[in-house]
Amino acid sequence: MGKKIKKKKKKKFGIKQLKALTNNVGVKKNEINKNVAFISFVEEQFDLSNYNHVYDLCCGKGIVGTYFSLKRNNVTAVDNSGNNKRNQLIKRLDEKFYDFINTSIYDHGHLQNDSLVLSLHACGNLTDKVIELALQSQSDFAVMSCCHGDKQYFSPREIPDVNLVDKLGRDHYADLLRLNYVSEIGYTAGIFEISEDITPKNRIIWGKKKSRE
Ligand SMILES: C[S@@+](CC[C@H](N)C(=O)[O-])C[C@H]1O[C@@H](n2cnc3c(N)ncnc32)[C@H](O)[C@@H]1O
Repeated sequence: MGKKIKKKKKKKFGIKQLKALTNNVGVKKNEINKNVAFISFVEEQFDLSNYNHVYDLCCGKGIVGTYFSLKRNNVTAVDNSGNNKRNQLIKRLDEKFYDFINTSIYDHGHLQNDSLVLSLHACGNLTDKVIELALQSQSDFAVMSCCHGDKQYFSPREIPDVNLVDKLGRDHYADLLRLNYVSEIGYTAGIFEISEDITPKNRIIWGKKKSRE
C-alpha cells in the first residue's frame, strides 16, 4: 500500500509572517513594531471586506501596503522617493494585488471612491493632504500623524480651546483641529493612541463615513 501524501496547508498571511518578512529585509525592530501597532488598530477598527481598494500614502518602505496586499486586498502605494527595502518587499508581492506609484500625493489626483486610505507618519501637512484625499473620495481613513505642518489646513467650525496648545503641545492640538473638521462633515472620527514606548508620535486619527456604518 502506498503512503498517503499529506498536503501541506498553506498558512494564511498574518502579523507573525509580516514580522518575519520585514525582519528578513532588514527593517529595524522598532519600525516593525510601529507598523504592527498601526496595522492591528486598522484591522480592529475597519472591516476590510467593505473596501475594494486600500491606499498606503507616503508609504516609505511600504510595510503597511505590503501587509494588506498579502492579505489579498487591492493596494495602491504612493511615495515620491525611492526606497531599497520597499523594492525588496515588492518582489514578494503579486502585482495583481499591489501597485506602487512613484509620485507626489499632490500630483496623484483623485483616489478611487469608497476606499480605505492609510498613512503612517506622513510629515507635516502631508497628513492633512492624505485626509483631504480620503474625504474627497468619500473614503474611510486612518493616519498616524507626525510633526504638525507649517499651516493650519482645516478650519472646523468648533475650534478647540487654544489653551490646549500649552497643555498638550502643538502637534496634538493640530490633531484636534483635524478631528473636529472631519467630525463636522459626516464622519464618525476619533483619535487612538498607541503606546508611547513604540513611538512618541503615537496618535492615529481615524474616520468612517457615517452613511457606511
Ligand atoms: C516619515 S516617512 C514615513 C514613511 C512610512 N509611511 C513609514 O512610516 O515608515 C514620510 C514619507 O513620505 C514621503 N513623501 C514626502 N513627500 C511626499 C509627497 N509629496 N508625496 C508622496 N510621498 C511623500 C517620503 O518619501 C517618505 O517616504
